[in-house]
Amino acid sequence: ILPSPQAGDLLSWYDRHRRRLPWRAPPGEAADPYRVWLSEIMLQQTTVATVGPYFERFITRWPSVEALAAAPLEDVLAAWAGLGYYARARNLHACARVVAGTHGGRFPDTEVGLRALPGVGPYTAAAIAAIAFGRPAAAVDGNVERVITRLHGIDTPLPEAKAQIRARTLDLVPEDRPGDFAQALMDLGASLCSPKRPACALCPWRDCCVANARGDAETLPRRAAK
Ligand code: ADE
Repeated sequence: ILPSPQAGDLLSWYDRHRRRLPWRAPPGEAADPYRVWLSEIMLQQTTVATVGPYFERFITRWPSVEALAAAPLEDVLAAWAGLGYYARARNLHACARVVAGTHGGRFPDTEVGLRALPGVGPYTAAAIAAIAFGRPAAAVDGNVERVITRLHGIDTPLPEAKAQIRARTLDLVPEDRPGDFAQALMDLGASLCSPKRPACALCPWRDCCVANARGDAETLPRRAAK
């Protein structure tokens, strides 16, 4: 029988190994909802490495949601060139206009409120709610699915396992640092808890991970046969 996983063990690891990413506030400082939202939209279908320079250019040119809302759509689409999926850029601009116009420049601070915005789905709403507003939300992307599936030894294949994974993630979210916890899960999934040859020996959850105990981490998550 294994000890149950503690958020604190992952957070201590995050404090030592967190990635320095341009949209992350320095440790201990509050995150800017505009920066969090912009980065999460850019990261929806694009890698962290590609997003970096685009994020910096956008922030320099449009430092606030009001500035972005005031820009002509053509300028935003031109600045987006190379990131792909132009519907995201159109939604980005539409969302900036809604926030600047009907919300007085402030982003909604709940998952439900965020989900009502153009281009903001369940994952993005949870990520913004946790990172920008400290809400106990479960932001589950593909990396987080892999971490949680292995941690709990979930053998049910995807997509059937999704609801279970969400519930398990939410159970782990700590009251005090939900945003750091969300990003710690992302960082763990992007580094040690890799699809192939995970570095279990270095993992802060090595002693409580069911898949590590069984030695089958690399086989998870399972996927339903097509
Ligand atoms: N992918 C999506 N959101 C992210 C974030 N905030 N940090 C790192 N990777 C991410």
